[in-house]
Amino acid sequence: MEKLIFSLFLALPLIFTEAHVPGGGFTKLFDFGDSYVDTGNGGRQATSWKKPYGIIFPGKPTGRYSDGRVFTDYIASWMGIRSPIPYRWRKMGKKVQGHGMNFAYGGTGVFDTLVKAPNMTTQINLFQQVLEEKLHTKRDLKSSIALVSLAGNDYAAYLAGNGTIQSLPAFTTSLIRQLSLNMKHIHGMGVRKVAIMAIQPLGCLPQVSALTSYPNCSVTGNSISKFHNQILEKSVQKLNKETKDSVYIKVDIYSAFTAAMKSQEHHPGAH
Ligand SMILES: *[C@@H]1O[C@H](CO)[C@@H](O)[C@H](O)[C@H]1NC(C)=O
Ligand SMILES: *[C@@H]1O[C@H](CO)[C@@H](O)[C@H](O)[C@H]1NC(C)=O
Ligand SMILES: *[C@@H]1O[C@H](CO)[C@@H](O)[C@H](O)[C@H]1NC(C)=O
Repeated sequence: MEKLIFSLFLALPLIFTEAHVPGGGFTKLFDFGDSYVDTGNGGRQATSWKKPYGIIFPGKPTGRYSDGRVFTDYIASWMGIRSPIPYRWRKMGKKVQGHGMNFAYGGTGVFDTLVKAPNMTTQINLFQQVLEEKLHTKRDLKSSIALVSLAGNDYAAYLAGNGTIQSLPAFTTSLIRQLSLNMKHIHGMGVRKVAIMAIQPLGCLPQVSALTSYPNCSVTGNSISKFHNQILEKSVQKLNKETKDSVYIKVDIYSAFTAAMKSQEHHPGAH
């Protein structure tokens, strides 16, 4: 996993580089989202605090749902800053708050999901509280990026509940409507750039492809992702028309995942 994610990130800096400065001159990172970006907000009872999570980086479990780094760590590294501290550790002193803050909780969504943890709205409210406590100033926000990774768990909850494939397009539309409102809210609070992660090919997740004994990714699963990403793209374009400098950025992890899997396809066992 560490290797796979790493190769995805080799391509990523290109997406962000505007000014030709490493990290684009951004100095703070704020995360909102799920396990793709959570770096330890789950309590000690969370599975992310058990092995094999964390065995490659940093060598022991730290609350990340990965054996290594997660997206937050790579983006922070590209920005040339330390990974922002999880909200849970915010009382640890001013010094550790210098790089932004991570409000992401594994398993969460734009709406409520199967996991009882703060949804996107609540995560933004936590950010609002942190700003009111003056842990970060308006000036800090001018050089900040928000990284948003949400929606995957909303689909899991939708499909696990009574959601049908027929009414899925309507669900996607309402999901992205809420997501866009939330992203506008984050920008309205002063954050300079808001990067939203598209969703990965859901049909290639082992949990999904196991249902058909793995030989191929689920076509239905992937079409859910493609549809979501198309609507997201339109929504990002629309949001950018409302702002002077392109504030919103879609991070195309669908293509990144596909490319990484393709490069491995002649090496079975290396996945
Ligand atoms: C998010 O969670 C809060 C608190 O539990 C709840 O009041 C709110 O309705 C939820 N928002 C959405 C969009 O699901
Ligand atoms: C699904 O539908 C059934 C019957 O209409 C209802 O009893 C149940 O609460 C629903 N489940 C969810 C998760 O909405
Ligand atoms: C998997 O995909 C390959 C190539 O498209 C196809 O030939 C094969 O029949 C598929 N296998 C299953 C079980 O769907």
